Amino acid sequence: MQLPLGPQTPAAIQLIRWIFSPMSFMDECVRRYGDIFTLNLGKNNQNLVFVSNPQALQQILTQDTRADFHAPGELNVLFKSLLGDNSVICLSGAQHQRQRQLMMPPFHGDRMRTYSHVITQITAETLAEVQIGQTFDVRTTTQTITLRVIMQAVFGLNRGERAEQLARLLSELLELGSSPLSVAMLYLPILQQEFGGIGPWAIQMRCQQAVDALIYAEIQERRSQPDFTRTDILSLLMAAQDEVGESMTDVELRDELMTMLVAGHETTATALAWALYWLHKLPAVRAKLVAELDRLGPDPDVTAVMKSPYLDAVCNETLRIYPVGMLTFPRVTTKAVNLAGRELPPNTIVLGSIYLTHHREDLYPQPNQFRPERFLDRHFSPFEFFPFGGGARRCIGSAFALLEMKLALAQILSQWELELVDQRDVHAKRRGLVTAPERSIQLRVKSQRSKVESNPNSIDRIAEDSQLTASEVAL
Ligand code: HEM
Repeated sequence: MQLPLGPQTPAAIQLIRWIFSPMSFMDECVRRYGDIFTLNLGKNNQNLVFVSNPQALQQILTQDTRADFHAPGELNVLFKSLLGDNSVICLSGAQHQRQRQLMMPPFHGDRMRTYSHVITQITAETLAEVQIGQTFDVRTTTQTITLRVIMQAVFGLNRGERAEQLARLLSELLELGSSPLSVAMLYLPILQQEFGGIGPWAIQMRCQQAVDALIYAEIQERRSQPDFTRTDILSLLMAAQDEVGESMTDVELRDELMTMLVAGHETTATALAWALYWLHKLPAVRAKLVAELDRLGPDPDVTAVMKSPYLDAVCNETLRIYPVGMLTFPRVTTKAVNLAGRELPPNTIVLGSIYLTHHREDLYPQPNQFRPERFLDRHFSPFEFFPFGGGARRCIGSAFALLEMKLALAQILSQWELELVDQRDVHAKRRGLVTAPERSIQLRVKSQRSKVESNPNSIDRIAEDSQLTASEVAL
């Protein structure tokens, strides 16, 4: 049985191209070999099948807990050093399912909407730190917003000494992990050397230990002073028990908290930064969105913002053109499988290429143009547009991320007139295991838009009526 075609260059060359220029490498492969091709990135000489064919994606993502495919966490080894063995990302089978069920409720439905106020308030506070006429780095600012928001959701705190320290160290840790060298260290464990404590790996590990110490201190404090009124995710996870009445250990808690902090903030921060870039790069898009938001009146309610069609289209187009996650996590064939006409042997690793699918000319004409209207003109299936993956490992935080993107954008656009400092195009590049703008995007604050009086159904009012404890709202 022959695998789909792919480059015949040595695995080391393919790995270098994958680390340094993953998007242009994938573009080149799809042109040469079609929408299902094979790469060999050297790891145990393992072949990886990249898929951007919607029919095949449907087959994979609807069958990944059934007979044909599974979604093993063991293959997500690249995340283990940062997130730990017990992270939901690294678990498989029943354990994975159980952990997902524990983690999902806080990110869905009414519970999640109670964070609306926090998102709006943190966005307003963060932007208020910039004076009129000043410029700011967009991704740093959006990262501050999303880090504070996820810390509030996870721990119920975003202020105070431990929170500030944790925020600073987490940003440092992600920065350290963002370079191609750090990615190479993940793919090639032989590079994970201490070099007398001064090598990049040693520096990264020290930073990680400092983050761990803060997380463990928080867990200890909660164990010694239980507060059953708290509704943050840490409290829910601490209260949860499995079928035999066992609670999560400190190490298990640490790994899940780290997973949510890491998975939950840089991704959304990057998406938000891209949205702000496109909105200020293309004034007609911004004007159309501002007009839509203005029609909602002052302090619109959350439901109205979430249902705004053009805002939805802008967020979708942002996540389409440069998806933060280029790929789904790996799925593996459990037996010989015919994948959209290609015979795959058992144990073949397949990856959904979100980036390539989102750039298919037949689905998205002129795919490199930012055009939100395409999402108003037609409906895309979950195998044509899937920025959050799908199936057994579909992103736990997708609804949360969209809530955050929409509310933060609505808040920023209704409060501020901003302009791009540099009109040159910005493209995406690899940043660690995800993608990000290739260079700093700077925005200048032109003026503040006038704020009109409060609406009784506004986001702020909903938070007052919600079950957020005082400790969750302001610590
Ligand atoms: C714009 C923001 C985000 C994007 C683009 C994104 C994208 C993704 C993608 C592509 C996957 C892999 C899905 C698959 O393999 O099928 C994933 C998984 C995951 N995401 Fe997100 N994500 C975002 C925000 C978040 C947030 C806010 C959280 C908060 C907790 C989060 C937590 C996770 C977790 C825990 C998984 C692993 C799920 C599992 O293994 O079962 N993500 N995400």
